[in-house]
Parts: sequence; C-alpha cells; structure tokens
Amino acid sequence: MIFTLTLAAALLGFANEVLGASLSASLSSSASLAPQVGVLEFSNFGYSGTYNMVLELKDPTSSSCTCKVDSTPNAFSGINAPLNEEVSVHFRGPLTLSKFAVYTASDFVVGTNGSGSWNRLAYYDASSQTSDNVTFLTTAGDDSPCLGKALTFADSDGTSKASESTVLAKNAKLTSNQEFSIFSDIKCGSSGLGKDCGVYREGIPAFHGFYGAVKMFTFEFTMPTESSASSSISNYNMPAIWLLNAHIPRTAQYSDNVNCSCWRSGCGEFDIFEVKNGTTEPNHLYATIHDYQGTGEIETGLQVPGYIARDTSNTMRGGVVFDSNGDAVVWMSLSTAFDSSIAASNVNGWIGSSGSKQVNQLLSVKAKSSALSKKSGGAVVSANSLTHQIVVAVLGVVAWIL
Ligand SMILES: *[C@@H]1O[C@H](CO)[C@@H](O)[C@H](O)[C@H]1NC(C)=O
Ligand SMILES: *[C@@H]1O[C@H](CO)[C@@H](O)[C@H](O)[C@H]1NC(C)=O
Ligand SMILES: *[C@@H]1O[C@H](CO)[C@@H](O)[C@H](O)[C@H]1NC(C)=O
Ligand SMILES: *[C@@H]1O[C@H](CO)[C@@H](O)[C@H](O)[C@H]1NC(C)=O
Repeated sequence: MIFTLTLAAALLGFANEVLGASLSASLSSSASLAPQVGVLEFSNFGYSGTYNMVLELKDPTSSSCTCKVDSTPNAFSGINAPLNEEVSVHFRGPLTLSKFAVYTASDFVVGTNGSGSWNRLAYYDASSQTSDNVTFLTTAGDDSPCLGKALTFADSDGTSKASESTVLAKNAKLTSNQEFSIFSDIKCGSSGLGKDCGVYREGIPAFHGFYGAVKMFTFEFTMPTESSASSSISNYNMPAIWLLNAHIPRTAQYSDNVNCSCWRSGCGEFDIFEVKNGTTEPNHLYATIHDYQGTGEIETGLQVPGYIARDTSNTMRGGVVFDSNGDAVVWMSLSTAFDSSIAASNVNGWIGSSGSKQVNQLLSVKAKSSALSKKSGGAVVSANSLTHQIVVAVLGVVAWIL
C-alpha cells in the first residue's frame, strides 16, 4: 500500500515537473501522498545555460514605468549553477528566526567525512544580538507598478523601514505574508551592466549576496500556526525560507513583467523549507528549484517528491548544503550547529540523523537559451530523458522503501 501510493505520488510529481502545468491539478490532489522524510535531495544540480540580465529600470514609481533586459544572454555553468552565483536569503511568516549562519568550503561531498571543512562567512544569533556580515532588508520602500515595493533596511521588527542597517530583535515575529531578507554586509558598487552587482533599483540599500559554488546555510527558527493575521491574506499560514539569485530582489522580487528581473529567464531560486498549500498541507515543508534544468516550466519548478514536517510548537533546526558534486541537500535536525568552523563529518552527522531521504535526480541538460516568455526557451526534454527520469524516480522510491 505504501509502495503504491508513494510510487504514484513520485511519478505524478516527476511527470508534473517535466510536462508542466497541465498535470498540476492531479499533482495537488495527490501531493499529500508524498512521504514524510527528514532529508530532501536534488542530485546532479547545476547545468550550462543562460539568463538575461536586467539592463534598465525606467521611471519605477510612474504608471508608465518600463523594464528592459540585456539582449545578450548571460551564460553560466558548473556544479550548482546558476545558484553557484551570489544568493540572498528570504523568510516569510509565520516565522521567528533565532539563528542563522552561512558557510563556504573549498571541497565537501555529502556522505564523505574526509572532505573539506566549513568556514563561517556570516552569522546571526538573536539571543546575543550578534550579527556578523548580515544585512536585514525588507520591501518597505516606494511602490512601483513594475517593480513592487523597493527594498529598504529592515528595522528590528524585520518589516518596518529603518534608516540604517539594524539587527533583527530577539523574538521578532513575521506573520503570514510578511517577509525580510538577509544579504551580506558588502555594499554594491554603482548600478550598471557589467558592474559588481549588475543593474539594481535606484535608491535601494544594495548589498552583495553570499558567494560560492560550495556553500551551506543553517537555520534555527519557529513556524507556529498563524494566530493573528486575517485568513483572507495571501500566503496565509504559509511560512517559507528560500534563496534567490541576489540579482532578483535588487531589481524586482515580485513582478509580472518578465523584463524586470532575471527570475523568468532562469537566474535561479531554491526553496528550502516551504509550505505550498496552507489549506491542504499546512504542516508540510517542500524543497523546490526554479530554473530550466530539465523543465520548461519555471513557475512549477522541480520538486523532491517528499516533505519535511513543520513542527508548529517547537524550535526547528536545519539547513541546506550545496556540495562539490552538485548535490543539494536539505535536512532538518536539532543537532545542526552554528560554530565558526565545522568539520565535514559533523554535517554528514546532521544529515544522517535527520531520517529517511527522498531524491530528485536532475537531468543533465545543456539549455540553448532561456525563456523570456512563459513557454518558450528552457531545456527541451526528449521522450528518452522523460523515461530516464521516471526510471530514476522509481529506483529512488524503491531505495527509500528498502
Ligand atoms: C561576507 O560575505 C561576503 C559575501 O559572501 C564575502 O565576500 C565576505 O568575505 C564575507 N565577509 C567575511 C568577513 O567573511
Ligand atoms: C521583454 O523584452 C523582450 C525583448 O526585448 C520583448 O520582446 C518583450 O516584449 C518584453 N516583454 C515585456 C512584457 O515587456
Ligand atoms: C490547496 O489545495 C486545494 C485543494 O486541492 C486547492 O483548491 C487550493 O487552490 C490550493 N491552494 C493553493 C494556494 O494552491
Ligand atoms: C561521518 O561522521 C558522522 C558523524 O560522526 C557519522 O555519523 C557517519 O557515520 C560518518 N560517515 C561515514 C561514511 O563514515
């Protein structure tokens, strides 16, 4: 019974990723059949592709505002690409963040204890109010029909506007649909194509994201069930923690215009712990990649067919690691730590103590050019590779059951 249900969910999940939105109805009704696990893994993450950098953001606060992207595609390649580029870290309520750390390593392989150790690049600890190489931003600035609200420094509550970089207060709580983000404390140079941060929205506090192809993020947080916001609010009771290519929020995080950020053309998003349906699955945390590695449907993205439990009454600890082999692994374990240096064996121990694992083995693709309109571009997925992916899915499920 478990086998049949799990297999059906896995097949629907993978088919949905490859074939796109046409199957989303059947997926959402069966999504709860995905198994609960402690580890969600994407293997073979990273491909050679392109995306389009923003070239111009014109008259943002006017009703006639426009955006343009560079017509020369920006190429990327390598393990974990395009998220081998700098990323920013995003949080949505209901959520309280109590610890956060970012690490890089020269070499680390999930499951191999002798591989390189980790150096901490950035650290936030709410109880001691320590904040190293961390800038809290939020979208509390001027609104724009094209770009949405501008980034500002976040005040200690995480959501009000501050005039300078401010440490998030202990117990600062995001309610449903409220967000803040974390960047490094390295300021961007001037805005412009080819400059260190590319083009960004005028007037924002513009900071670099966190660099490195091999990197790791650890979190200590709570995601209590929503108790104050109105249930009519969007993203009601749908907390999330995710990474964006840092170019995206510096131009426009939420825009319908495909030319206002590099998101649509595939510069990358990685959802680490995300509630995807606050009604049917409020306590299931999914991991999703939004790019074009083996899919043309960037909105749906690529999901691991399994979820991690959201504990609504206790503190959770977990993280995501992008290793030297292109394995991106999300785990949840109270053994997760935040020390300034961490041995490979510790990380493997956290992952090992998290419980069973579900894997989405991503296709090896060479995308020609990425999409500027919803259905064009992206990688072309042949019947062969679809079969391959389903076979891999079946093997993965069998392995999980054994
Ligand atoms: C802070 O993070 C940035 C971006 O990843 C990095 O370049 C810089 O070296 C970090 N600073 C410290 C002191 O580690
Ligand atoms: C985005 O830019 C492309 C290429 O310049 C253009 O063809 C398209 O119409 C633009 N789309 C929007 C919504 O502005
Ligand atoms: C949640 O699932 C229900 C039932 O499938 C569906 O009607 C609803 O639209 C979903 N909500 C979201 C936000 O996807
Ligand atoms: C790596 O170290 C961890 C923590 O000590 C241990 O749990 C795990 O079994 C080790 N893995 C291997 C492959 O030796």
